[in-house]
Amino acid sequence: MDELENFKKNQSKKNHYWWTIEFSTPVSDKSMSHNEELLSTIAALSDCIGSYIFTEQDTLGRKRLFLRADYDSSIGIDELLFKIEFILKDPSFKGINLTRCYRTSDQPWETQHYDAFPPLNVGKTLVVMAPWHDKEEIQLGRTPIYIYPASAFGTGYHESTQIALTLLEEVVKAGDIILDVGTGTGILFIAALKLGADQAIARDIDPATLEEAKRNMNLNGINPKVCKLSEGDLLKGFKEQVNILTANILLNPNVSMLPDVRAVLKPKGYAIFSGMTSVESSMFLSVLNSSNLKVDKELKIGDWWGCRAVKSWG
Ligand SMILES: C[S@@+](CC[C@H](N)C(=O)[O-])C[C@H]1O[C@@H](n2cnc3c(N)ncnc32)[C@H](O)[C@@H]1O
Repeated sequence: MDELENFKKNQSKKNHYWWTIEFSTPVSDKSMSHNEELLSTIAALSDCIGSYIFTEQDTLGRKRLFLRADYDSSIGIDELLFKIEFILKDPSFKGINLTRCYRTSDQPWETQHYDAFPPLNVGKTLVVMAPWHDKEEIQLGRTPIYIYPASAFGTGYHESTQIALTLLEEVVKAGDIILDVGTGTGILFIAALKLGADQAIARDIDPATLEEAKRNMNLNGINPKVCKLSEGDLLKGFKEQVNILTANILLNPNVSMLPDVRAVLKPKGYAIFSGMTSVESSMFLSVLNSSNLKVDKELKIGDWWGCRAVKSWG
């Protein structure tokens, strides 16, 4: 087979899909051009490969402005969503939400998903699987976590999720209550429950992710009675105490949550923080030290860094 044929064959296997992300914002005739400009800026900042802007009316007749942007599928979806989340944090984009995220394709979806999401071993005991993977693909001794890829953040393919899962598997035990802040797909609390925890409380600032978390929870055969899922901003208004807190968010939300973490942990409870880069670790650790938690373990994968802290007294 000559090189060109070989190339075409590989292309036909690999590059016939892309990520599509939709953003939207309420809009009036007066704010139309300003909002169009904001959406175009998001398209440019996020390096999309194509985009278009359109309006739609909701069931109550209110107008919304949409940006539909396509992204090269050589970028992992977690990486892409992380980048977009970061862009949307800029105050000038207030009111603009990520409305939908999906895979667009021109070949059968089964084969694309096989190519893009092979089963992924994480830590010593876990394997992250897509629903179409066979049980035979699970290595002996590993617990499968089933996740629908390409939805909310948390397919397991991002290093920050792998860090949190690894730090979690080492300490979770029967009877634990886990609080997962910024749950995304629900991957962290689902792993905790499958490894023996009794109950999970999961919150996310984005209500759309809660539907995804529920879907993944069902996929893993988890009894909905042991999970409380709700919209919530970090630890605001949270009054319970838990054995383990997980937070795979960015540096700033992690730091701003720290003063409240000790109060929500039971004695000897663990807090697992991820979503930060190695460069950011010293900054986070200096704030952690002043919040009366003791660092128990640090973990680095690629450029990403996370740590587990323990409430060792009180
Ligand atoms: C990097 S993703 C982590 C998803 C998943 N827990 C994982 O480990 O893969 C961060 C999640 O935090 C959520 N988030 C961002 N800011 C938040 C806040 N202030 N309060 C609660 N959730 C937040 C995002 O909506 C997103 O789902």
